[in-house]
Amino acid sequence: MTSLPDFPWDSLAPAKERARAFSSPDEAKGEGIVDLSVGTPVDPTPEVVQQALRDAADAPGYPQTWGTPDLREGIADWFARRRGAPGLDPDGVLPTVGSKELVAWLPTLLGLGAGDVVAFPRVAYPTYDVGARIAGATPFAADATTAFGPTTPSSAPKLLWLNTPSNPTGKVLGVEHLAKVVAWARERGVVVASDECYAELDWRSEAERGQSLDELPTTPSILDPRVTGGSTEGLLAVYSTSKQSNLAGYRAAFVAGDPALVRQLLEVRKHAGMIVPWPVQRALLAAVRDDEHVAAQRERYRARR
Ligand SMILES: Cc1ncc(COP(=O)(O)O)c(C=O)c1O
Repeated sequence: MTSLPDFPWDSLAPAKERARAFSSPDEAKGEGIVDLSVGTPVDPTPEVVQQALRDAADAPGYPQTWGTPDLREGIADWFARRRGAPGLDPDGVLPTVGSKELVAWLPTLLGLGAGDVVAFPRVAYPTYDVGARIAGATPFAADATTAFGPTTPSSAPKLLWLNTPSNPTGKVLGVEHLAKVVAWARERGVVVASDECYAELDWRSEAERGQSLDELPTTPSILDPRVTGGSTEGLLAVYSTSKQSNLAGYRAAFVAGDPALVRQLLEVRKHAGMIVPWPVQRALLAAVRDDEHVAAQRERYRARR
């Protein structure tokens, strides 16, 4: 724990102060610094989701750590509808208390520790690095599998994080790229976790995408059968509704993929009380069943851009 870096957003505070000192803006008029430091949504939570939360306000019993079966099925349906990943086993789906905790605890939940390498993109969301450190594993920043050199199963990383579309670059990994990473990882027994929380926020032109704007998925998932070859073995997709549904305050996210890996996470999470509150599980289900509010939010951001 002593090796944890300064909290990244705290370390930005002096930069903000410095920027403010250069002018005396009237912030009420929208003047002053443009603060892009925290990607916190500012638009209202969709009514359909708020209503689901209100309807579930009476919740005296303990919720299921694994999520209710209809929630796990609803998420599997969402993967089929929006992410080009049909036929996911609902046993391989698990709600999480936002994605950040899952990112920070995944190495620990997978039993990784001293001597194990956890790899992640060089310019990335800082929590991949933090998760490696919490587990006592070795953080390793790399943008290509070649960065590991000629690895064997014993010298390869145990966990490889991908982030597509990337925060902060927006880069989207294509099907071929993902398939190559999966083949490389499977030869070496590396677990691949793909953080895809910006998947629905794709503003590339048809030319940039190489496909029509109506075609789905716009950004491929690690669980797309063209990537997996039909098996989710060793693969996890990490997704959050914080951004697509303005739900950051609810902490509503999920992980899906290899049922054996998900059971391993579930086992520890049950003991540790890492449970999504029941009203939030109902709100999450409403969010993944409704595509309209996501399209509206994408258009809102498009207009601002
Ligand atoms: C790349 C990436 N992953 C995960 C998260 C965490 O999202 P949340 O914890 O709100 O689900 C964020 C939030 O900014 C992010 O940018």
